[in-house]
Amino acid sequence: MGTLLDSFQEALEKREAKLARRRLTILSPDAADFSSNDFLSLSTSSLLKSRYLRRLNACYAADHSLGLGSGGSRLLDGNSAFAEELERFIASFHDAPTGLLFNSGFDANVGVYSSVPQPGDAIVYDELIHASTHEGMRLSRATTKLRFQHNSVEDLENVLNGLINDDVSISSRNVFIAVESLYSMDGDVAPLKEMVQVIHNTFPRGNAYLIVDEAHATGVFGPNGAGVVQELGVQNDVFIRTHTFGKALAGQGAIVLCTSLTREYLINYARTLIYTTAMASPTLAAIRTAYELMQQGKTQSFQQKLQSNISYFRSQCDNFHMNDQSIVRIDYYDRSPIFSIRTKYPRELARYCQERGLIVRPIMAPTVPRGKERVRVCLHAGNSYEEIDSLMSAIRQWVRDSTTERPKL
Ligand SMILES: Cc1ncc(COP(=O)(O)O)c(C=O)c1O
Repeated sequence: MGTLLDSFQEALEKREAKLARRRLTILSPDAADFSSNDFLSLSTSSLLKSRYLRRLNACYAADHSLGLGSGGSRLLDGNSAFAEELERFIASFHDAPTGLLFNSGFDANVGVYSSVPQPGDAIVYDELIHASTHEGMRLSRATTKLRFQHNSVEDLENVLNGLINDDVSISSRNVFIAVESLYSMDGDVAPLKEMVQVIHNTFPRGNAYLIVDEAHATGVFGPNGAGVVQELGVQNDVFIRTHTFGKALAGQGAIVLCTSLTREYLINYARTLIYTTAMASPTLAAIRTAYELMQQGKTQSFQQKLQSNISYFRSQCDNFHMNDQSIVRIDYYDRSPIFSIRTKYPRELARYCQERGLIVRPIMAPTVPRGKERVRVCLHAGNSYEEIDSLMSAIRQWVRDSTTERPKL
């Protein structure tokens, strides 16, 4: 019988053979970023950096007892007036009753889905929902978990009606509908208004609860970057919203926006909040600084720059489609910074671009469904038109250099 380490080796070799082995990489600082989720390029913004450092100094000057680390979980020694005030500030920015900080979006989703649905309840989720929601659902006590076709209002309605037909008792239970506002891999936006309508019509007694993960929309969409829910004005129709700080806001962590009763419940039952050290003061200060920039409208110019890069890239894609549509296809959605370059050879195309200083990533199954592998392109406020031109010409060149006969899409 082999040892544990032998089985590790074997598992990794299996992945290697399937070209599916994951590896950590370090990017060259000179490369053009078409990959990270730093959509507004705030991570390298001198405005954010200088404001953050000023705030940090001011915090420590004002309160000599403020520690670097939080010292414990929120329920023990890790809570602070600073954390509670930050929650109120963010909740107010998002027009929500209250908010509860989590150490990451992953923790937030696991905390919510593992604790909120009760035995006998159902969760109906978009088939492309993020792995963190799947993890939360796996731990959840909900009796029924059903998926609906990605962003399809019609299929959502069918699944909800099917639930009622199969189990009349569901009308006295709770149904949670799990969606994202901007999908991380396809870059498309959920039709939230139509979904809200279907949910109201199917469960008029109000026992169906919409939960929206705004991870990728935070900072990018909505008034001052507040997200899609506020852009559509449906905040009162959403039971829980999750915003994360690690993407466009150049920080780390997440907030769950909800009613004060739900917040109290999560404080008592969400294990990813209870059994973990709370975020350190410098992390809270970074989040506060980014939110203040949004609240003051100071990220609007970044949002606009991002949108102008999106328009420019899209115009290049349209030209590209006319000339070169063969073994690649570029999929995109209105105003979205996330593009999919669909090809049967995502690894090769990504490597070709990377060798030319253009950072893009191949996205393989199971991160996306088999057959839908792609190169993911994320645009940023900080990308220049020249960088975008370089990316387009690299893709064109790769198509031309592909000497062997390749299957078309
Ligand atoms: C839709 C979605 N939700 C949640 C998360 C997790 O957020 P975090 O990176 O803060 O853990 C991600 C991260 O990629 C995501 O794409």
